[in-house]
Amino acid sequence: MRLLITVARRIHKRPLYTPTSCLSSAASCSGTATNSGLQFRDDQLVCGSTGELVQRLRGQVEVRTEFISEEEEGALMKELEPGLRKKRYEFDHWDDAIHGYRETERAQWGAVCEGVMDRLRAVAFSEGSPLLGPVHVLDLDKAGYIKPHIDSVKFCGSTIAGLSLLSDSVMRLVREDEPTEYLNLFLPRRSLYILRDQARYKFTHEILKDDESLFSGQRVPRHRRISVICRNLPV
Ligand code: OGA
Ligand code: MN
Repeated sequence: MRLLITVARRIHKRPLYTPTSCLSSAASCSGTATNSGLQFRDDQLVCGSTGELVQRLRGQVEVRTEFISEEEEGALMKELEPGLRKKRYEFDHWDDAIHGYRETERAQWGAVCEGVMDRLRAVAFSEGSPLLGPVHVLDLDKAGYIKPHIDSVKFCGSTIAGLSLLSDSVMRLVREDEPTEYLNLFLPRRSLYILRDQARYKFTHEILKDDESLFSGQRVPRHRRISVICRNLPV
């Protein structure tokens, strides 16, 4: 599965990710802390270095909150957990794009999960777009994180769609040839994100580690997180 990932090997000096603009007309994208975690309005889930960049990538970066219900999350966990539990989290490969993870693939699902996958495919991919066979399941330990990388252009097509289970998280996109241009995505538990085209090819993506997990100045505690990722094939 690591074949799917090309680590961004360019060591770029990291910009300070402070000024952010989001689609919301409000000056800042400040969410609200509730009992069930941080909540942002749908137009506050994607913030970036400039409002212009957020607008430019608008059709290529999507976050849909509450894409699956608690019951559906439970059904996915019930199918995935037994297989995952047999594996150990891998922390040791210093050059890996992912730290603190275990993973699996899945081609067949029970009825509830198949319903979720059908819905995901319907919103993320155009009809008839051939998909990479099995779905990729990535289980990140609480201490795990995903370093900036671009998914292999040889093996994956223009669209990447992922469900987030068990934890909120922050995904960051940084333009590979212009690291001052970046977007931060707040990925609530049970949301779906979709990256397309330029956002997928020209920007690295990463999932922030717990102690760097901030969105719009607010802390987003990172717990164990499982993602269920669908990709299409290159044309
Ligand atoms: C990957 C990846 C993101 C996620 O496995 O290539 O970027 O949501 N995963 O887990
Ligand atoms: Mn990736």
